[in-house]
Amino acid sequence: MDYRDINRASWDERAPAHAASPDYNTQGFVDDPGFISHVVRFDRPLLGDVNGLRGVHLQCHIGTDTVSLSRLGAQMTGLDFSTVSIEQARSLVVRAGDDVNFVESEMDDAVVALGGEHFDLVFTGIGALCWLPSISRWAATVSALLKPGGRLFIREGHPMLWSLADSRPDGLLVVDLPYFQRDEPSVWEGGGTYVQTDAVFTANTTHEWNHGLGEIVTALLAEGLQITGLVEHDSVPWEALPGQMTKDKHGEWRLIDRPWRLPASYTLQAVKLGAPSPDPLV
Ligand SMILES: C[S@@+](CC[C@H](N)C(=O)[O-])C[C@H]1O[C@@H](n2cnc3c(N)ncnc32)[C@H](O)[C@@H]1O
Repeated sequence: MDYRDINRASWDERAPAHAASPDYNTQGFVDDPGFISHVVRFDRPLLGDVNGLRGVHLQCHIGTDTVSLSRLGAQMTGLDFSTVSIEQARSLVVRAGDDVNFVESEMDDAVVALGGEHFDLVFTGIGALCWLPSISRWAATVSALLKPGGRLFIREGHPMLWSLADSRPDGLLVVDLPYFQRDEPSVWEGGGTYVQTDAVFTANTTHEWNHGLGEIVTALLAEGLQITGLVEHDSVPWEALPGQMTKDKHGEWRLIDRPWRLPASYTLQAVKLGAPSPDPLV
């Protein structure tokens, strides 16, 4: 089976459990029209003002961050290849009364699926890049979706975090998995997920890839993007190393023991070079 079919089956099965979980708190969006996800709340200082921007959220899952960006004034489209995730995202905007468009598409087909539109903002991250075998293909898609002068904003799990062995009783952080991108995927068999849920899953195989920070930056530079920011954080918005992390009041998880040892996530921003086309009405 193709990696996309294998991974899609896993996401399709998990999406309803995620939408029902306290971690994604979809009811919070319904109850309060001003509510935004803790992921986007964390992003705000680096994200700045998105009011009026036309944005696309790649690998948007059940749409909670997409809706959050819309609530900050951006005109948002979310894209994901999981049919059930997109159904959940559409159901969320119906329940919450938001105006957000969702498109079902594989990342490699995103440019066509989005009708060749060019965006002011491409937003992605938090467990997105690890599902993609080629970081250069991803960077080409990002570049093709941006207007000249448009901006990529990604906050993502750090490749150093993804390279670590599972939590160990001695608390040591041990590099055991690929840091650099490899042709062969890491194949995982695991019945769980990253939210609190009693759901039992049957589609438990996934194929994943790591991409080094230098590989990500180099791929974006090769596509004509200028890196405008790269900040590493000691926290992530999920319990990445169970038993070794503690959650703060903002929903961020960091190592209990000497959190300064590990870059757990990063925020990277880049701008597509080239002058924006002149406004024909001016
Ligand atoms: C961890 S989720 C992203 C999470 C998102 N940041 C959030 O917390 O809501 C990863 C998403 O990537 C999507 N995905 C994985 N591989 C994909 C691909 N090749 N094309 C499009 N979407 C993909 C999955 O369906 C899933 O919804």
